[in-house]
Amino acid sequence: MLSAIFTFRYAFITWPALFLPVLIGLMVEFPGQIWWLGPVAVLCLASVLQGLRDLTQTRHAVLRNYPVAAHLRFILESIRPEMRQYFFEGDKDGMPFARDKRAIVYQRAKQDLDKRPFGTQYDVYQEQYEWLHHSIAPKEAQPHDALRTLVGADSRQPYSASLLNISAMSYGALSANAIRALNKGAKAGGFFHDTGEGGVSPYHREHGGDLVWELGSGYFGARAIDGGFDPAKFTDTATDPQIKMVELKLSQGAKPGHGGVLPAAKVTEEIARIRHVPMGQDCVSPASHAVFSTPVGLLEFVARMRDLSGGKPAGFKLCIGHPWEFMAICKAMVATGITPDFIVVDGKEGGTGAAPLEFMDHVGMPLRDGLSFVHNALIGIGVRERVRIGASGKITSAFDMARVMALGADWCNSARGFMFAVGCIQAQSCHTGECPTGVATQDPLRQRAIVVPDKAERVASYQRNTLHALAELVAAAGLTHPALRPS
Ligand SMILES: Cc1cc2nc3c(=O)[nH]c(=O)nc-3n(C[C@H](O)[C@H](O)[C@H](O)COP(=O)(O)O)c2cc1C
Repeated sequence: MLSAIFTFRYAFITWPALFLPVLIGLMVEFPGQIWWLGPVAVLCLASVLQGLRDLTQTRHAVLRNYPVAAHLRFILESIRPEMRQYFFEGDKDGMPFARDKRAIVYQRAKQDLDKRPFGTQYDVYQEQYEWLHHSIAPKEAQPHDALRTLVGADSRQPYSASLLNISAMSYGALSANAIRALNKGAKAGGFFHDTGEGGVSPYHREHGGDLVWELGSGYFGARAIDGGFDPAKFTDTATDPQIKMVELKLSQGAKPGHGGVLPAAKVTEEIARIRHVPMGQDCVSPASHAVFSTPVGLLEFVARMRDLSGGKPAGFKLCIGHPWEFMAICKAMVATGITPDFIVVDGKEGGTGAAPLEFMDHVGMPLRDGLSFVHNALIGIGVRERVRIGASGKITSAFDMARVMALGADWCNSARGFMFAVGCIQAQSCHTGECPTGVATQDPLRQRAIVVPDKAERVASYQRNTLHALAELVAAAGLTHPALRPS
């Protein structure tokens, strides 16, 4: 036992403890040397006290066995993502978005040179390598703003949507300044900004960019006292001319089948006002909807949203789970004759502010499979002409867009692509409230980092330059529009 005390494991307790009386003796003997002996003695004392604390605490086994020394492990663990990103990450490495994928967004957002030298870094003979067939008779590239699709052609207020838009992210998940920059960018670029399920905040309205209002199972912004749906509140907001379409959220790819809770402590007076929820209580988005429970009920609710909004295109967003459930919705479309104006298919690979790991990694169908399934099912029941399909899930480049449009998407939404455009560095601390770039936080000091006019310009530039790259790809393929059914 005694010999164990003198091993390296306890070195930060035993050696300082032995030095301490020696140092005290030296200070008494040579008072003129206290200026350096004093701090060394304090360090020794601190090491002994910390060591005793580590030895007796009950939470960390490694600290009980390696008092003081094991703190180095915690420090290195905490800076591991930064070390990897700054020093060890290759251009094609980095998850969920490789360095190269992030870099192209930053370059297009900042209007920097977005070309690459020398040749592809991909192994073009590896499995799952993807390429696009070009034509020997390429076309002239279309201007980027010609790349649009008409949603809700049969509704009273059809909307001409750009092919690249800002995917749903709530005020609450994102900071006020991030929302402002996104919306101002959307206004400048003529594309839409999806509010996310947290309601329409004042920051969504300041700059007047087109909005798609998303209603989740919490019905925030149109919520009755009992947590249900309040049609009068819904009408009030949905008829605002800035809102171009209304979207019912069934699920999102990162956590399908899982609700969400904003703890009471985070329900500020402002959030309570925006979401129409009481303060001092947890703000819950249940996993499923309370106002309908059948496929027919779902379609009737979407039709009701369309009516209450004054005839704006209405649709729903989902990540495909059990395929037969979507088939049941198709069956209900046939039986009732009610079709949504659009369906947004979100892929399993989609992002979120916070989700359980098992859900994030293993629940829900990836985008390409889900999208192709929805596209084909709608063709099968003969309604594809009436229902537009939006797609989201790791779409950041023109090739990502071309790929999903070849699989049936009419337009694309990007969430994290636009987060990069406003300055996100993939620090992956959205769930902690400590976002280093002020994008995914409510901390007023941190969000100060976002200078709205500058970031808004980046948002618009990223969208415009990506669409320009898409137009060039499409032209190289000998086409004028990337969709299977241009409209
Ligand atoms: C911070 C954050 C917040 C999100 N909030 C919502 C939300 O409120 N409603 C929703 O339907 N999807 C939400 N999503 C999912 C995105 O809208 C999108 O479907 C998904 O991230 C896939 O797009 P991406 O790969 O471009 O990020 C959120 C995503 C992120 C990253």
